[in-house]
Amino acid sequence: MTNRELLEEARKARLKSYAPYSKFQVGAALLTKDGKVYHGCNIENASYTPTNCAERTAFFKAISEGDMEFEKIAIVGGKEGTNADDLCAPCGVCRQVMMEFCDLDEFQIILSDGKENIKVMSLKEIMPYGFSPSNLK
Ligand code: THU
Repeated sequence: MTNRELLEEARKARLKSYAPYSKFQVGAALLTKDGKVYHGCNIENASYTPTNCAERTAFFKAISEGDMEFEKIAIVGGKEGTNADDLCAPCGVCRQVMMEFCDLDEFQIILSDGKENIKVMSLKEIMPYGFSPSNLK
C-alpha cells in the first residue's frame, strides 16, 4: 500500500473521531507487515484524562486482534470542519507506544499537509534516545 493510500485510510478513520471537547479530530491508519490496515480515531472523555489518541486506538485494536508486526502508520489531524491541512505529528505518549512494538529504523510515520506534501519519518528520527524494551534486557 502506498503512503498516499494509507493517508486516505487515515482520513476515513478521522471521520469517526469523537472530540466534542477539543474539536480537534485525528485519524490514523496502521499497516501491518502482512497488509492489514487498522483504523484509529481520537476518543475524548468528559473527564479529559481518559482520552485516547487516534494512533493508540489503532495500535490497541491491532494488538488486541493478535497483530504485532507493523510497517507504517499514517496520521491526519485538524480542527473539526477543516480538511486537516497541517501536519499532525504523534504526541509523546503515542511515540512511546510505537517504541514498544515497532522497529526503530524500519517503522515509518507518514504525515500529510492535505495538499501535495507528505512527510515520512522513521521512528528513530521522531523518537531519538527513546526508552524501549531493549533497555530492559
Ligand atoms: N490527539 C491525537 O489523537 N493524536 C495525537 O498524536 C495528538 C493529539 C488528540 C487527543 C485529543 O483528543 C485531541 O487530539 C487534542 O489534543
